[in-house]
Amino acid sequence: MKIGILNSGGDVPGLNAVIASAVKYGTSRGHEFVGFNKGWEGLLDCDLIPLNLKSVSGISHLGGTILHSVNKGRFAGKINGGDKNKIPDEILELAKSNLEKLGIGALIVIGGDGTLSGAMQLVEKGVNIVGVPKTMDNDLNGTEQTFGFSTAVSVVVDAIDRIHTTAASHDRIFFIETMGRHAGWIGLYSGLAGGANAILLPELQFTYEKLIAFLNRRNDQGNFHSIIVVAEGVKPLAGDLSVMKNVDDKPEFRLGGISYKIMEKMDELVPGRFEMRNVVLGHTQRGGSPNAEDRILSKTYGSSAIDAIEQGKFGEMVCLKDAKISTVPIMEAVGKLKLVTVDNQVYQTARKTGIYFGD
Ligand code: F6P
Repeated sequence: MKIGILNSGGDVPGLNAVIASAVKYGTSRGHEFVGFNKGWEGLLDCDLIPLNLKSVSGISHLGGTILHSVNKGRFAGKINGGDKNKIPDEILELAKSNLEKLGIGALIVIGGDGTLSGAMQLVEKGVNIVGVPKTMDNDLNGTEQTFGFSTAVSVVVDAIDRIHTTAASHDRIFFIETMGRHAGWIGLYSGLAGGANAILLPELQFTYEKLIAFLNRRNDQGNFHSIIVVAEGVKPLAGDLSVMKNVDDKPEFRLGGISYKIMEKMDELVPGRFEMRNVVLGHTQRGGSPNAEDRILSKTYGSSAIDAIEQGKFGEMVCLKDAKISTVPIMEAVGKLKLVTVDNQVYQTARKTGIYFGD
């Protein structure tokens, strides 16, 4: 069978490993491959490259994606606030007819919530699609883990380790801002692994009064520096999300800057009480090579997508369930975000080991 591969939305480390493993395994099973450049846009414009053993050789350890990516365009499955976007019928028909014209029997779509929401609309048109879950935010429902997440956590932990020493030398409070949009997974995992003193998550609202009281308590106990991990989607109680000015025509609003706003507000409430700094880790969490865990997960997802195609599991997404590979209807994955809940084991461990969550 001729199989198309596309990735869309923000890049994450591990994309190349998914592509390479699907092509390597699929080729050994007699399939042929093409890759679409820049996600859905490549499919709509028939902008493609052949994918074969030669073109995917030596790419699995590299970050980014050889297929390039965009998180905007004619096929955006989600719009502001995460609402579903109904893709115009003529766009869906164009995608479908291009696949037919190219003789592509199945499409592997590697993406998160937005990309897979778009894929679902093509599935409803009868296109044979298998999804592969991708997001550094790890907020995709229907799978226990997405690739890119583990690498992002490693980057943040490395940063926290570095900040610890300078924070301690200067008796400073550091707010370290992590990505993740409305989900706090990166903040939670990196905060626990990095030994943060407090973690502020979008799922749990905090108050400034309690945060100040917590820092005062630490001071009274002789701890004059603190590391506070702040997930970018955090909303202070009765406060707003920190939304950045839209400098491109991306359909979803950009988050960022909450750590600075928190620091400013703290200084307004208790002027000069704490010496504070903020660090926004931003896209460093997304760039660079995938770590070992993400390479293995990506390769497993890529090769499993071929198995799913051969088994005719169209409209399904490969996933991790009870730490084993399985598939789940794409519809289940895009229905709602997977958020941190108080019964989560990592959250509970963080609590037990004394990390403060602002409540
Ligand atoms: O969803 C992945 C993500 O990296 C978020 O964590 C972050 O808020 C957003 O994408 C950044 O998007 P962009 O690369 O468009 O700035």
